[in-house]
Amino acid sequence: MGIDIKDIIEKDAIDEIASLRVLIERHNYNYYVLDAPEITDGEYDRLFRRLEELEQKFPEHINALSPTQRVGHEPVRTFGTVAHTMPMLSLKNAFNDEEVREFDMRLKKLLETDRIEYICEPKMDGLAVSLVYGDGEFYRGSTRGDGYVGEDVTTNLKTIRSIPLRLNIEGEKRVDGEVAPVIEARGEVYISLESFDKLNEERIAANEPPFANPRNAAAGSMRQLDPQITAQRPLNIFCYGVGRLDGFDFKTHYETLMALKEWGLRVNPLTEVVSDIEEALKYYKKLSEIRDILDYEIDGMVIKVNDLRTQERAGAIARSPRWAIAQKFPPRQEETRLIDILISVGRTGALTPVAKLEPVVVGGVTVQNASLHNMDEIERLRILKGDIVVIERAGDVIPKVVGLLKEKYGKENPYIIPKDIMPSKCPECGAAVVRTGAIYFCTGGLSCPAQLKGSIEHFVSKTALDIDGMGERNVVQLIEEGLLRDISDIYELKKDDLTTLDRWGEKSAENLILAIEESKKSTLPRLIYAFGIKGVGEATAKTLAENFGRLDALMEATEETIIDIKDIGTETARSLVEFFAEEHNLAVIERLRVHFGSFPVSDIKERGTKLTEKRFVLTGTLPTITRTEAKALIEAEGGKVSSSVSKKTDYVVAGAEAGSKLEKAERLGVTVIDEAGLMELLQE
Ligand code: IVH
Repeated sequence: MGIDIKDIIEKDAIDEIASLRVLIERHNYNYYVLDAPEITDGEYDRLFRRLEELEQKFPEHINALSPTQRVGHEPVRTFGTVAHTMPMLSLKNAFNDEEVREFDMRLKKLLETDRIEYICEPKMDGLAVSLVYGDGEFYRGSTRGDGYVGEDVTTNLKTIRSIPLRLNIEGEKRVDGEVAPVIEARGEVYISLESFDKLNEERIAANEPPFANPRNAAAGSMRQLDPQITAQRPLNIFCYGVGRLDGFDFKTHYETLMALKEWGLRVNPLTEVVSDIEEALKYYKKLSEIRDILDYEIDGMVIKVNDLRTQERAGAIARSPRWAIAQKFPPRQEETRLIDILISVGRTGALTPVAKLEPVVVGGVTVQNASLHNMDEIERLRILKGDIVVIERAGDVIPKVVGLLKEKYGKENPYIIPKDIMPSKCPECGAAVVRTGAIYFCTGGLSCPAQLKGSIEHFVSKTALDIDGMGERNVVQLIEEGLLRDISDIYELKKDDLTTLDRWGEKSAENLILAIEESKKSTLPRLIYAFGIKGVGEATAKTLAENFGRLDALMEATEETIIDIKDIGTETARSLVEFFAEEHNLAVIERLRVHFGSFPVSDIKERGTKLTEKRFVLTGTLPTITRTEAKALIEAEGGKVSSSVSKKTDYVVAGAEAGSKLEKAERLGVTVIDEAGLMELLQE
């Protein structure tokens, strides 16, 4: 009898889980929908971690709508299909004002009226989706498909933080006093231009083909079978309508949109009710003027009849409603001369060819540069200095070269890409340039000014040396103040340097200096990872640290020894050797060494003592492990491995085809063991 303490603890936990979920989703909403966070990222992370912790303790209380479950763990094999309860229609297009006026006249005639109120919206250039909520809970999301049947992309949609998992529905809005059983919102999933540029930069750096435009990027991301990948894509959504909607009786489209907004969904703030078609045309003009400053791609305006009864009366023909039309923007292409092809160095060290153009106005903006992405792109476009080329601004911030105005190559006179476009030294820092696939990279990662901000941000990041107080804004400020010219300068920072700067106080300066001091005690895997060497992520850094034990050993390693290590490929091995061969990087590392006193060594090596002071020589091919692995194992237990046998050698580990070293060992009477013998020693 009596009260069970365990039950009380569990009950408290369940209450806390429930309130954390509500709280976290509210902060998601503030951040992703309202763009007005009320807490810091750190506080948010704390709440999130607390929820994860409680759910781990009480896994039976995890449910699919918990904010911790936004990113699914398992990839799906294929997407299921979803039949839309109401078809997802498409829009007829108008290409000029006259066609829009004709649309208005047709409607007036059909409806026998001389006044129609419209609502104007930007036409988002993304991917149409349907979001179905039952009793306010998100339970199914799908693509438009052919309008009748789409693909079930629920798991992928859940990763989009601006899609609420629960709608904020208030009682008094319901006509029947019950929570609406089904609410289906429809909208466009898209990627903002800024995120798109960043995503493509990252893809180019990772040697993946860049997306042609934000729409392809959004569509490709939604069609990922692995939700973990989708979760990394900066997707967003604007809702512009509803499908099935139980229990609500709105009068106008505007009212519907306002309800969506109140329920917590994102609705484009540029939406506007207009009194007639001439006002709609003015809206279009305004929209084309601000198109270039929007952070997302639109390809026109959508005009819809605002009154829902009137919409119903107008009906639909074939697959398009009679009550709506899209007025498309004209394409934005112009011709100009390609003056030169220059090379720019990006944040990640990728060398990108850039077209220098005779200035030309495209869609209201003067263009004089256009990215050419990489050498393959130049070859594909078949362009040379002096050519007349077609330029397009498909809404991208960065314009692109579409191709030659007049094709001039054929079988007899093939295009030959000039050899001298790509330099052998980085134009920013002079470090060697290397090629990986179609992309060329500067190897001066630690010293190249073009990569400065990126390399510092990476160096101080949570998973690298974890220096708190060096967010993007502070890094930019310290670079602009001339206090950071490479990562080693971090360790030159003095409290007094900081307190004289804007936004810095005694306390924040002190904290940063402390955090910097603390970072010297970091681990070897983190240090290796912090250098931001191409191909070296956290896992690889850990493997390298375990195998080499010390930074110096890694710095001296050859490509062959690195490739010998399990899980490390040739490309990463090459990039490591290139990185440590670049004297600009070595200079920075030497400066770092002075500040650190000594660099951290691998944990593993510090731990083991079984073989302390024992000297080993490895010879021949071992049956199941490589020599590098054997060396790592020995060193991990405190042993030493040298290359030649002497009287001081304790053990020679011999494998197949062992030669002179084995002979010498026998001559000197040194103990010879095989791989199995070594394993025994290690296990003793
Ligand atoms: S309304 C019956 N509103 O355009 C009307 N569509 O061709 C159905 N789109 O599949 C759509 N922005 O992907 C509507 N503000 C907007 C839109 C929009 C973009 C897309 C949507 C749809 C296509 C219609």
